[in-house]
Amino acid sequence: RATGPVVVAVDGPAGSGKSSVSKAASRALGFAFLDTGAAYRALTWLALEHGIDTADAAAVVALLDDFAYATEVDDRGTHVRVGDADVTTAIREPRVSAVVSDVARVPEVRTALNDAFRRLIAASAAPGIVVEGRDITTVVAPDAPVRILLTADEKVRIARRSAELAPAAASTAEQLRERDRRDAQVVDFMAAAPGVTTIDSTHLNFDETVAAVVDLVRSQEKAN
Ligand code: DC
Repeated sequence: RATGPVVVAVDGPAGSGKSSVSKAASRALGFAFLDTGAAYRALTWLALEHGIDTADAAAVVALLDDFAYATEVDDRGTHVRVGDADVTTAIREPRVSAVVSDVARVPEVRTALNDAFRRLIAASAAPGIVVEGRDITTVVAPDAPVRILLTADEKVRIARRSAELAPAAASTAEQLRERDRRDAQVVDFMAAAPGVTTIDSTHLNFDETVAAVVDLVRSQEKAN
């Protein structure tokens, strides 16, 4: 197949439900799923593992040479690996979330990971792939036939994130605001680029949001 899989690009801020919505939509469509934030998190985990100060961009870039990143799908879900280590849960820890923006702002990191994402997309055997991140609609796959900005009001995003991380609830609001502020300095994921469809999930529940994504993909398929 010369053209590769149908790409569904999904961007949005922290707590917009991007990951869980994209994953569920990919399942409903029979498509593969690529969580690009997981790769930024895995590289951040590796830096912390090596005792590297994530603000030291040169040290972070040096890690790219032996960044053995891989994902595996089994009956319990998707596992994220770096070399021999299963880092599926470790990359979600607050110590990683707190500094992942340092790693994501390094241009050499973005270039290297974006190349890897494009290769993974091209290599996918599925008819389509839902790719989720911050700059998928604009940088990684700007020609994707379906491009979505998934948003929700900040209050709702904080409430959803707090429900996921109950013990950390008090500081969640500040952390989420700070991370979005820092990430938005690197790529703009708060405004939809030309041709990108905004799905605002403020007043939608999870299933309704997934259905909105699936409907958009199906209507695009019908139009072609
Ligand atoms: O979606 P997430 O919270 O797992 O993403 C982790 C971090 O990686 C986030 O702070 C921003 C960054 N990121 C990015 O800069 N570009 C992407 N395509 C995906 C994530």
